[in-house]
Amino acid sequence: EKGTYPHYMIKEIDEQPAVIRRLLQNYTGKDGKLATDTAIAEALNAADRLYIVACGTSYHAGLVGKHLLEKIAGIPTEVHISSEFSYNMPLLSKKPLFIFISQSGETADSRAVLVKVKKLGYPTLTMTNVEGSTLYREADYKMLLYAGPEIAVASTKAYTAMIAVFSVMAATLATAKGLTLGFDPVHEMSLAALAMEQMIDEKAQLQEIARDYLSITRNAFYIGRGLDYYVCMEAALKLKEVSYIQAEGFAGGELKHGTIALIEDGTPVLAFATQEAVNDHIRGNVQEVAARGAHTCVISMKDVTDRPGDSIILPKVHEYFTPLVCAVPLQLIAYYAALQNECDVDKPRNLAKSVTVE
Ligand code: M6R
Repeated sequence: EKGTYPHYMIKEIDEQPAVIRRLLQNYTGKDGKLATDTAIAEALNAADRLYIVACGTSYHAGLVGKHLLEKIAGIPTEVHISSEFSYNMPLLSKKPLFIFISQSGETADSRAVLVKVKKLGYPTLTMTNVEGSTLYREADYKMLLYAGPEIAVASTKAYTAMIAVFSVMAATLATAKGLTLGFDPVHEMSLAALAMEQMIDEKAQLQEIARDYLSITRNAFYIGRGLDYYVCMEAALKLKEVSYIQAEGFAGGELKHGTIALIEDGTPVLAFATQEAVNDHIRGNVQEVAARGAHTCVISMKDVTDRPGDSIILPKVHEYFTPLVCAVPLQLIAYYAALQNECDVDKPRNLAKSVTVE
């Protein structure tokens, strides 16, 4: 039930810090360390390459997952859109393992791939929020999101839970391989949950951003680099889905190769700049669009990438866990933009919560 909340979407956004904390508890072993089921860890470690297959927001969580699996655990990982993979299968490695990510566990495009790769005899794992769903039942291995029922069509808490499960997976695989993490994943993820809570308390500020940047526009851009680029893809999808503003999530450096032609006086460009290694580069991209009249908004991270004039400064978290924190402002901006446009926030037109046709 949504209780005193006007919409499920805002309720589910608010629940995210609690979801991350519960998830960490559920994935903590008796020894107090993060753990995935032994059989799952063995299967993942036996694979020479992981193939993540998903749609929509779950695909975007998969992109972050790939980054974590490769950087933390050193496991080569590819991410594919289910509907593309089904009918245009790439060359596979010798020992692949397939990871299906699906909030509902019922997405037909993803199931089509699961059926195909099972026929080929490859091991499969489903990461889902719904125990007993089709993808849950049909995969060899399962990992739950423990996010609680997600009712709003726009996925919010499942997205951050997926990223958190990938973090658990990457950390346990790295430990199993004898790699030194250099950070305490439980501690860092708890800090991320706290930072998410702090951003949830900034609703008024985010509503103002939606009003200043998105109230009289038909289109908008989100730009970022590295992990921020993946966050931008999710930010654009969320904005399109609930507010009907045409939006694109773009790699900052790629703008000059064509898309910058779309920038006019007043075009909103929101930049995520949380990654220290590419901060100068993304700032350069913001300058490029500002010089062509864009209305720019920079979202940066305190004591890491922040500069005078930035519109939103996120609390500092470990560089791997910035997408968890960025998720909150991107979701809230979309939510308030939808309210401004008088859209049906929880049930956007033409969409269904689970997409059971290919
Ligand atoms: O249930 P799934 O995670 O498989 O759903 C995948 C997409 O249909 C879903 O994430 C969709 O993109 C959301 N409505 C986005 O908010």
